[in-house]
Amino acid sequence: MNDCIIQRWNPAAASVDADLDGLGGLLHACVHEGGSVSFVLPFSREAAKAFWRHDVLPGVDAGTRCVLLARSNGEIVGTVQLDMATPPNQPHRAEVRKLLVHPEVRRRGIACALMRALEDHARAAGRTLLTLDTVTGGNAEPLYLSMGYVAVGSLPGYALNFDSSKLEATTIMYKQLSSKAS
Ligand SMILES: CC(C)(COP(=O)(O)OP(=O)(O)OC[C@H]1O[C@@H](n2cnc3c(N)ncnc32)[C@H](O)[C@@H]1OP(=O)(O)O)[C@@H](O)C(=O)NCCC(=O)NCCS
Repeated sequence: MNDCIIQRWNPAAASVDADLDGLGGLLHACVHEGGSVSFVLPFSREAAKAFWRHDVLPGVDAGTRCVLLARSNGEIVGTVQLDMATPPNQPHRAEVRKLLVHPEVRRRGIACALMRALEDHARAAGRTLLTLDTVTGGNAEPLYLSMGYVAVGSLPGYALNFDSSKLEATTIMYKQLSSKAS
């Protein structure tokens, strides 16, 4: 984690196209490594880049989505999103989406650092209830539990795994944020 910086994605910056390339490459690598993050093989780099451009960027531009980037030597090696596009009766809630760390730099604390920074952004935005779902038995489950997320339960057969060879369960989790970082 030493050489990594965490920053909020600013798509207005001149580097937006390079960022879309970097984010696409990161998502592509995670899916091909076996990550269960909405997509199945075959999954091209173009499709990965299109996800960021068409499904994520509009929310960032609208101010309802905060995307954090972890950079190492200028390269995007990790990311996570806070989706604040909640209904009018849930102004205090936000959804955590797409926590991704490149397979080559895992187990160095990058995901934890991204999540801590995301929680700071949530607090600053008045979002005190964070919700998420993650594949049951996946790498992220122990990470979220160690950060104080509570598992509500598991939905069996929720989604196909990365190569469509089986259905996997998903665990629903939440965390109530206190006013101070924990
Ligand atoms: C899950 C993921 C984001 C973790 O990223 P990471 O940077 O390696 O995580 P960290 O180094 O911050 O790990 C923090 C803790 O999480 C847990 N953890 C992370 N990876 C783990 C693994 N492969 N097996 C078991 N526990 C793991 C550990 O408790 C770890 O602490 P430790 O290293 O001191 O034991 C990464 O594996 C990834 O991108 N996976 C594919 C995409 C995905 O599934 N994202 C989750 C979507 S909900």
